[in-house]
Order: sequence, then C-alpha cells, then structure tokens
Amino acid sequence: MADKKVKIGFIGCGGIANFHFAHYDNNKIPEAQIVATCDLIDERANAAAKRFGAKPYKCFKEMLSKEKLDAVYVCVEPCAHVAEMELAALEKNCHLFVEKPVALDLAYAQKVESILLKKKLIHAAGFQDRYIDFIPYMKNWVAQSKVGFFNAYWVGGMPGVWWWRRRDTSGGQAVEQTIHTFDMCRNLFGEVVEVSAFGRRGIITDVENYDTEDASAVNLKFESGVIGTVYSGCFIRGGGGKNGIDVYTMNGRLEYVERTSLTITEPNRTFTFKVGNDFGQAEDDAFIDAILENDQSIIISNYSEAVKNLELTLAANESMDNNGKVVLLNQKRSRARRS
Ligand SMILES: NC(=O)c1ccc[n+]([C@@H]2O[C@H](COP(=O)([O-])OP(=O)(O)OC[C@H]3O[C@@H](n4cnc5c(N)ncnc54)[C@H](O)[C@@H]3O)[C@@H](O)[C@H]2O)c1
Repeated sequence: MADKKVKIGFIGCGGIANFHFAHYDNNKIPEAQIVATCDLIDERANAAAKRFGAKPYKCFKEMLSKEKLDAVYVCVEPCAHVAEMELAALEKNCHLFVEKPVALDLAYAQKVESILLKKKLIHAAGFQDRYIDFIPYMKNWVAQSKVGFFNAYWVGGMPGVWWWRRRDTSGGQAVEQTIHTFDMCRNLFGEVVEVSAFGRRGIITDVENYDTEDASAVNLKFESGVIGTVYSGCFIRGGGGKNGIDVYTMNGRLEYVERTSLTITEPNRTFTFKVGNDFGQAEDDAFIDAILENDQSIIISNYSEAVKNLELTLAANESMDNNGKVVLLNQKRSRARRS
C-alpha cells in the first residue's frame, strides 16, 4: 500500500464514531481517508459524510459492495452486531476496527476472530486506555511486585443512549462499560480462571424500560494467584463517581484513576504520573500504521483481547444470574472439560 491512502468506511456514526472522527479531522492521519459512512439514521451518515467528503449509506451491504474499502470501523450498539457486519466486511477482506463490546454473542465474536486470524487481516478493538503513555510503566511495576489483591470500580451515572438501560441491548454495565476495567485488570494480572459475582437491582426505579443491574461486585481469581473485586454501579446522580483500580502489593500501593493518573506509594516515596498523551489518537494512528506496515504487533488492543474481555464479562453475568455460582475460565475450564 506504499503510496495509496487507506480507504475507510464507518458502520455506525453515533457517539463513539465521533470520537474516532476527531482523530481523522483536518488530515490528522494523512495516510488515511474516510470515504464512506453508514448509519441507519440518515442524518448521522450524512453529517459524517459531509465532514469528510465521503459517501453516505444507510445499508452496510450496499456500502461494502459499492466501495472498495481497505478498512472498516464497526461502531454500533452492542446488540446490533447480530446484523453480522463484521462477516460482510471480512468477505471483502477489509481490516477491522470493532468497538467494545465486540458483540453480545460470544460464539459470533469467536467466529469473527477465527476468520480475522485465518485471513491475516489487521484487527483492533476499542480499549483505548491501553494506549495511555504510563501503562507500560504501570505494567512493569505490577510485574515486579508481589500483588496481594486489587480493588477496581466503575461507578457513576447511567449513560443516556436508548440501548444502555437494558441487559438484552447493552449486555449490562459489566459487559458494556466496566469491560474497560476488566480489560485493564487482564492487562496487569493476566488471565482469569474463576469468576463469582453478585448483582443487585431495585435502586433505580424511575427510568422507563430499565432492566439491568444497578450495582454488582465481581470476584476474580487469576491464573497468577492474584485476587480482586471489580465493582460496577450506575446509580450515582450528580457526580461523586469513581473509576479505576487500586493494587496492594508487598512494595506498596498503586492507584490508577481511569484515563487520568497513576499514583504509586512505596515505603519512602509517593509519585504520580498524569496522562501525557492523546491515547485515543494513538489508538487510531496505530490502526492505520499496522495496515500500512502490515504488522499486527503495532496494535496494543486487538480483537482477540476483546473476545477474552467479552467472555470474562459474560461469565460475570452468568454468575450474577446464578446467585454467585463460580464460573471457570481459561485453563481451569479446559482442564475441567478434559477431566
Ligand atoms: N471505547 C469507548 O470508550 C466507547 C465509548 C462509548 C461507546 N463505545 C461503544 O461503541 C458502541 C456504540 O456506542 P455509541 O455510544 O456510539 O452508540 P450510539 O447509539 O451513539 O451509535 C450507534 C450507531 O450505530 C448505528 N447502527 C446500528 N445498527 C446499524 C446498522 N446495522 N447499520 C448502520 N448503522 C447502524 C445506530 O443507528 C447509531 O447511530 C457500543 O458498543 C459502545 O459500547 C465505546
């Protein structure tokens, strides 16, 4: 692809698509061009098309058949992947960037993953926190420490989009939102082998059509032996929420404040890093660089990691739905299957 621009199509032009659009505005990534935009809502496809001089579409199948695209972003609601736009894009050998959660159906996500790997196409998923500049330092500090346990949380208010308030359209808070925190825990501590969770409802009573947990606590046991709890809450109104991870180790304590800062307290010193880069821009830059260089290793947040995050958060839902039943994952699950 030496001299040609990467031609991009977007499926879904809502909230998160606009986050990505900002990284392509004003020729910020000169090696790429958004040439087609698709949304079921005409105004959204049209507004995005106008912004980039692209062609708007309502139907992604038509977009894929009429345009010669190198890459496709899928930025639709968690429940909308049932239309199987990823498979249609893969049919055309497009590289894929899929927003999290990459689906609500794990088997579908695994099918997409296997085709991506088989076709050796570049793949990325929307866990942009992995691109924050201090994350390698944070990972290294944790790797060199004896971790006892951690405490993680994504607690705030309820997002306003129509699909968020129902488990069958969003997946629930753990799957849709706190999945960023679960991802960072996996990034720090490795793979989870056991999940046990409780959720509660009944705090939020004044939102029409609301049908998901208001609060949940998910206990995780990692293959490395690390244990911890991830809390989700969407019931706080008027501020006061908290997103992040606290890690307690023999060397001291680490506090990651989601997308903001990292503070480490050691026996004789405390130091803080503030986020120093535009990690969202870095995420989209990496996608285009990986396509141009044909080098998947440039992507820090790939589709396979996203599938693991989906499996983990769906396991949390399964446990919540079964009064804290322990759900086995990864090695233990496969060992259990073998025995
Ligand atoms: N990475 C992040 O930090 C982050 C932040 C917000 C949202 N997200 C994720 O991004 C996804 C979208 O969220 P959003 O806030 O942009 O939602 P949104 O409701 O604002 O936008 C989704 C858009 O997809 C369109 N769409 C749905 N099905 C379609 C189809 N078959 N063809 C074309 N368009 C279709 C809808 O019409 C809508 O405009 C969700 O999975 C969400 O979890 C990620």
